[in-house]
Amino acid sequence: MDINGIKGRSLIEPDDLSLGELDALFLLAEKIEKDKRFLGESCRGLLLATLFFEPSTRTRLSFEAAMLRLGGNFLGFADPGSSSAFKGESLADTIRMAASYADIIVLRSPKEGAALLAKNFSPVPVINAGDGGHHHPTQTLTDLLTIKRLLGKIENITIGFCGDLKFGRTVHSLAKVLTRYKNINMIFISPKELVLPDYIKNILVKNNIEFTEKESLEEEIPCLDVLYMTRVQRERFFNEDDYIRLKDIYVLNTERLQAGKEKLIILHPLPRVNEISVEIDNDPRAAYFKQAKYGMYIRMALLSSILGVAKC
Ligand code: NCD
Repeated sequence: MDINGIKGRSLIEPDDLSLGELDALFLLAEKIEKDKRFLGESCRGLLLATLFFEPSTRTRLSFEAAMLRLGGNFLGFADPGSSSAFKGESLADTIRMAASYADIIVLRSPKEGAALLAKNFSPVPVINAGDGGHHHPTQTLTDLLTIKRLLGKIENITIGFCGDLKFGRTVHSLAKVLTRYKNINMIFISPKELVLPDYIKNILVKNNIEFTEKESLEEEIPCLDVLYMTRVQRERFFNEDDYIRLKDIYVLNTERLQAGKEKLIILHPLPRVNEISVEIDNDPRAAYFKQAKYGMYIRMALLSSILGVAKC
């Protein structure tokens, strides 16, 4: 499978890409990792619009860095207060405008379904950089590439997702895509208030995925190959008291990590708040900063493939 079929397409949900296309993107990202100039100035003269209606550090900066490293350029906003949305402009109109200036759009919105709506109004490809508590497909590409690079495979693994599984869009996207890989055992560790939404559980059931829901991180750590930590998503809570009660429910520290396998990898989409103690950062199993770096390589692979300038 090559990457030519990705040209001109939008990415709204992780399932928009076939397994073969995912493999081709991983291969391209690995080539870029070895030689950041592999694709040279292939995006010269092309423009990316980054429209961020929600805060972001890694996603926006890695997209912008990716476009600049490919020789292209970007325009956009990181603060919706500085865009005409603040004056009441509809998303559809904002997207039509951005599409008339840029060749590709990356959109982050607090509203579920916003990326799909944008795609329907956009004559240029749209990449979903997070739509509310729904999906975040380019984080999933980052997560899969990290697992592949660090464990050498994306099959026969036990992955524990821990934290806010209700609102954590990165968990929803990764769990959904992992149903397509062989022999993945998923353990969802959360308090009862923050369990995985039913629509994701239904997808797992439909695909005959072995999964369990637990509350204790300590009890599950010993059997994990991948531990995917997440922060409690304060901005999606209706009630600040509930957030305060739940925010520090899981804190991974040296003592708790002792029971983990030697080859365990600890992932986190970041930003981290308190859920991983900084003392873990020097543990060889801590992979979250490497993961953020892979995010730029996979976004370089994705942008060049959608813009039709990638080579294998
Ligand atoms: C995540 C997000 O925005 O969903 N961050 C990211 O893109 N790396 C996770 C989070 O904000 O907790």
